[in-house]
Amino acid sequence: MPEKQSKLEQKITKAELNLSVVMQSQQKSKQNNLNLKNPLITASGTCGNGQELANFYDINQLGAFTTKGITVKAQSGNQTPRIAETSAGIINSIGLENPGVENFILEVLPETKEYTLPILANISGYSEQDFEVLAEKLEGREELAGIEVNLSCPNIKGGGMIFGTEPEKVYQITKKVREIYSGYIIVKLTPNITDITTTALAAEAAGADAVAMINTLSAMKIDIEAQKPLLANTFGGLSGPAVRPIAVKMVYQTFKKIDIPILGLGGVKNGSDVIEFMLAGATAVGIGTINMTDPAAGPRIIKEVEEYMLKHQIKDLSSIIGAAH
Ligand SMILES: Cc1cc2nc3c(=O)[nH]c(=O)nc-3n(C[C@H](O)[C@H](O)[C@H](O)COP(=O)(O)O)c2cc1C
Repeated sequence: MPEKQSKLEQKITKAELNLSVVMQSQQKSKQNNLNLKNPLITASGTCGNGQELANFYDINQLGAFTTKGITVKAQSGNQTPRIAETSAGIINSIGLENPGVENFILEVLPETKEYTLPILANISGYSEQDFEVLAEKLEGREELAGIEVNLSCPNIKGGGMIFGTEPEKVYQITKKVREIYSGYIIVKLTPNITDITTTALAAEAAGADAVAMINTLSAMKIDIEAQKPLLANTFGGLSGPAVRPIAVKMVYQTFKKIDIPILGLGGVKNGSDVIEFMLAGATAVGIGTINMTDPAAGPRIIKEVEEYMLKHQIKDLSSIIGAAH
């Protein structure tokens, strides 16, 4: 056989690619691992509870889906305007508009039964007790593969941000939630902090299965015609391409310090952004703001990741996790 031809035959083909990743659990049983067919997970709050994206493609193609953040009681969110556009992202101050955990269980969870991918519920609170109540209500819900504990929302008064910036609070809340909730727990961290590795270490020590980073960065926009802050809430959280290099740095910094998986997110727009996060150390990668401008981005990004794998002849995507170190 001519040498050229045999070399061609040795090439990895699309059918051989393995995009699956395992988000391991700190709990001993392997049953608690989160097995994803690919690393893509929707970012909470950017695509409703499934139906919004399902109008564009079969969301079962994704690794997992994260629902919009829920609180103990229903809330209507902040006053409008609550989204401001910037040159490389958006600033939002939605303020956790949601139907409350009871209605979430009654109305949202049954809808998710039509999907086969793992569903994660994102929870937010104003006190330690809120997180306990939410964990209790969701414990044992078989529609869910796990929960994402949002200790980082910058838009709620007196709540999230304060917990998320103090390692002791992150530890306390995570520990409480761990005592109550037996499924997979991801603790979502804020980037509005000097050193994110301190809160990542606290979450790990308290029993979190994984950490997610980053939530939005505190920001504002001024309407120069009105000469007033554009958002009714004055401040909001910046997301989209502008935040990606910051998020990549935080994932990179944290990777060597903790032993639990990292869900990296912030500004992902295409396959190469996913690869960058994984090289920095992310096991899974979130897609958020991109869903709002390109709702069909999910399958496109998966395709782009496959193209990268073919170009670099990478058979197992998980082999690149942390490879940039
Ligand atoms: C409109 C909007 C709503 C959001 N709502 C939530 C939420 O309810 N809970 C949460 O943990 N993060 C929320 N986030 C943060 C995203 O999940 C994500 O962490 C952040 O936007 C960075 O990723 P991205 O740049 O890909 O959007 C929200 C972001 C946006 C833009």
